[in-house]
Amino acid sequence: MKKLFLALCVALGFAAAPAGAADYPTRPITLIVPFAAGGPTDIIARIAGEYMSQSLGQQIVVENIAGAGGTTGITRGSQAKNDGYTIMMGHMGTHGAAKALYPKLKYDPNKDFAPIGLVAGTPILVVARKTIKANTLKDFVALLKSRQDKMNEAHAGVGSVSFTTCSLFNGIVGVKPTRVTYRGTGPVINDMLAGKVDYACDQIVNLVPQVKAGNLKAFAIATPKRSPALPDLPTTTEAGMPEFQVSAWNALFAPKGTSKEIVTKLNQALDKALSTEGARKRILDLGGVIPEGGDRSPEYLGTFVASEVARWNKVLKK
Ligand code: MLT
Repeated sequence: MKKLFLALCVALGFAAAPAGAADYPTRPITLIVPFAAGGPTDIIARIAGEYMSQSLGQQIVVENIAGAGGTTGITRGSQAKNDGYTIMMGHMGTHGAAKALYPKLKYDPNKDFAPIGLVAGTPILVVARKTIKANTLKDFVALLKSRQDKMNEAHAGVGSVSFTTCSLFNGIVGVKPTRVTYRGTGPVINDMLAGKVDYACDQIVNLVPQVKAGNLKAFAIATPKRSPALPDLPTTTEAGMPEFQVSAWNALFAPKGTSKEIVTKLNQALDKALSTEGARKRILDLGGVIPEGGDRSPEYLGTFVASEVARWNKVLKK
């Protein structure tokens, strides 16, 4: 009898969708942000979460789990139940550089996740406390070279975007400043505003209001073109350091084994959010770059992560 029933289902094309996929989500979804509140990953996650919850009909609740350059939170997320109720915001650090920097990383960026989609590209700025005695990148580099043993650079932990990109910057300048670890660049910028740390390489979405208000000094943006959010900020090429070209990205992941139906629902909610005027304006005003078309698909993110892991492995081994 059972065989007949199953045959009938198949004949009628009822794919046996895993339990719960059809009416998913029926309760709030946890979104793990692997850094302290108030930093770029948190900012992007809260914008995406707010607009995704509108189309999903359930709250998306951000949980900040910081530590080890974001790998603590992502490890936790990779081990969560793959029922669609725990997702995570990864980025160029956690799903690109970390594998080369943590030999014992407890997750494989290419195997342990169900990619949902890219959320925003986040160009990198070199920023310093406003009292620093330099107004151009050239002056800052000269100051850094002359006082490197007295200067400190703040980042969000080994493997984070701020750590990885300022490793490149420090290498190009040829300096070894004191490097101070924070649980995110939200706290980094708080201390920079208080004059407690000297400089950082941080994602633009964390910096635009403070740079515009003159509370931080930004010397350059490490992308080929200027950002519409900070049109007066020169590129690193214009500022005399063409070799410093780096941009980060943030993307949503679910634990591996999350059903295709659930991933599709999450991806569709993200796609809708990134097409909504309110979300777009907030991301663009902060200098974020919104992926369009095919770049929003889960498949694209999977391919992109593989290429980023390979790229950063090469760059960081050097
Ligand atoms: C980083 O990788 O530097 C993080 O994105 C900082 C943060 O989000 O707090």
